[in-house]
Amino acid sequence: MLFCTGDTHGDFDRFKLRFFPERETMDRSDYVLICGDFGGLWSGTKLDDMALDWLEALPFTTLHVDGNHENYDLLYKLPVEHWNGGKVHRLRPHVLHLMRGQVFNIDGHTFFTMGGAISHDVQDGILDRDDPEFDLKYYYLCREHARFRINHESWWKEELPSDEEYAEAKENLARATHQVDFIITHCAPSSVEDIIGKSTYVHDRLTDFLEEVYHTVTFRHWYCGHYHENKEINSKFTVLYKNVVQVI
Ligand SMILES: [Fe+2]
Repeated sequence: MLFCTGDTHGDFDRFKLRFFPERETMDRSDYVLICGDFGGLWSGTKLDDMALDWLEALPFTTLHVDGNHENYDLLYKLPVEHWNGGKVHRLRPHVLHLMRGQVFNIDGHTFFTMGGAISHDVQDGILDRDDPEFDLKYYYLCREHARFRINHESWWKEELPSDEEYAEAKENLARATHQVDFIITHCAPSSVEDIIGKSTYVHDRLTDFLEEVYHTVTFRHWYCGHYHENKEINSKFTVLYKNVVQVI
């Protein structure tokens, strides 16, 4: 079995037995895949360890792609491993980060993974602790209830893929002859984002890349997170937040 869900942001309550009774019949060969904004590595403190140890103690294997709210300084410090045909970071023996641009084979089903997204909550700026005016700017932004984040504390430039990650994605999709069973991303292709946000979201390089994937790759179903809502876009595209849905 493999289930998919949306953003967890370090809060894994939805996997408690009373909310997810399906876990009773699951074992390590079953999976729950989180579509980004996993948030299990965030503060770099014991709080992260407690959350990850709790996940590790669950009966299934937890997988996730990355979103815009991940601590990339911590995530990218982990060694890269190969798992089921693609590259991963192993946060715990049974908690894995599925890296960008990979095609995994899980129980005979292929999954293309492409995490990342642009943050929609930084309209008022990104502060840097090294800025001599940091304290002043922070004070005023807080006073105005502004939407801002702090570099390397709550925002990372790695939220969007690099040239190398796009190149690797294209290479791996070509190797898979542009056919996969499932596509797992954090954000949606541009045209789907238009439906979700009623054309209020600005397209970016990643949503445009995913739009190309949408039209050039044959797939059975696509799941994404990011928009903090559960929505069936059409028979092949599902946006997830707190819902946990069975994929295989
Ligand atoms: Fe999120």
